[in-house]
Amino acid sequence: MASHHIQYFIVLLMATLFITIQSHSHSHAKLTPDFYNNVCPQALPIIKSIVSQKLNFKPRMGAHLLRLHFHDCFVNGCDGSILLDDTPNFIGEKSASGNVDSVKGYMLVDIIKAAVDKACKGPVVSCADILAVAARDSVSILGGPTYWYEVLLGRRDARNTTKEAAELYLPSQLFNFSQLVSNFKSQGLNLKDLVTLSGAHTIGMARCSTFKDRIYNDTNIDPNFAISLQQNCPIKGGDDNMEALDYVTPEKFDNSYYKNLVSKKGLFHSDQELFNNGIDCESDMLVELYSGDSNVFARNFGTSMIKMGNIKPLTGIFGEIRTDCTKVN
Ligand code: HEM
Ligand SMILES: *[C@@H]1O[C@H](CO)[C@@H](O)[C@H](O)[C@H]1NC(C)=O
Ligand SMILES: *[C@@H]1O[C@H](CO)[C@@H](O)[C@H](O)[C@H]1NC(C)=O
Ligand SMILES: *[C@@H]1O[C@H](CO)[C@@H](O)[C@H](O)[C@H]1NC(C)=O
Repeated sequence: MASHHIQYFIVLLMATLFITIQSHSHSHAKLTPDFYNNVCPQALPIIKSIVSQKLNFKPRMGAHLLRLHFHDCFVNGCDGSILLDDTPNFIGEKSASGNVDSVKGYMLVDIIKAAVDKACKGPVVSCADILAVAARDSVSILGGPTYWYEVLLGRRDARNTTKEAAELYLPSQLFNFSQLVSNFKSQGLNLKDLVTLSGAHTIGMARCSTFKDRIYNDTNIDPNFAISLQQNCPIKGGDDNMEALDYVTPEKFDNSYYKNLVSKKGLFHSDQELFNNGIDCESDMLVELYSGDSNVFARNFGTSMIKMGNIKPLTGIFGEIRTDCTKVN
């Protein structure tokens, strides 16, 4: 009798364990907005305050932080993997072509992490969650709604990554419309997410090398806009000269990116592919909608950011909470 009970108990225990592991390994493991409310309520206010102080004298840092979260999520999910330095065991994502000499803001993430760990008396908040919160705070401070979308939390940090994964999954600015759609689709994001998240290009800067082909060869570009960009981006050389992604309000998170697209003044080939591509009128309709209504854009941007932030997070027993965002524990 007793041994039956024990057997039954063990089976039950194993079933529970199995279900727990299953639900944690499921790609949509649940993140929650209040994950740190009890364990470290100071965490989110601290992140916001550091981001805010920095953006006061360096608004472009907001663009760096937003892009960091995007590039983190598109490579093995939002797991802080982009922050890992190379080790003898792996070459990390930082040297991948889409990141090297291009993605910035790593040092501020380290500063935030140190401040948060100090306040929480230990490594409680993951680097992946810091990126998600810092991205939301950045766009909010640069002109998005003050009370906006709630960031979902509870991500854990990866213990490994590869440069190859970043090469494979990060989209290129040379992509055409169908390539962009399938790149986002492979992340579980649809056309609406693509058009909406591309609105991130309402802030930040890009190097001449990334749009040179467009301003000399593309036809779907306003000719005067192309000529004015050629001044600072010659056919030969000048590859690191910078230009704003949104030439109208480069430091403000608003809908002028979409107005630019309607007037054929997108900076990247990939940006302009979202409007007037001759293939997809749903994309055109979204660009037109956002160009005329910044509130709808902001609302949808929040929704798509949450979707992007939900890409394959490590939760539960998977991954770790790093003590140093640049290294595995
Ligand atoms: C749709 C496909 C996308 C492509 C092809 C693309 C490509 C690029 C490229 C080439 C740059 C400039 C890099 C350089 O000059 O070194 C850039 C900058 C930027 N991207 Fe994207 N991007 C895409 C989507 C996104 C998304 C979804 C986000 C965020 C949600 C984002 C956020 C940014 C930001 C904020 C910058 C400016 C960064 C800074 O000033 O430091 N991008 N992007
Ligand atoms: C990291 O992943 C690569 C590729 O999957 C694997 O070869 C390597 O052994 C892993 N390294 C560590 C430290 O787990
Ligand atoms: C987009 O690019 C891919 C890959 O280069 C190509 O196969 C495809 O035909 C292009 N699509 C259009 C509509 O140009
Ligand atoms: C324009 O296109 C031609 C042909 O594809 C290419 O050889 C040339 O390098 C391009 N020009 C620039 C400035 O990228």
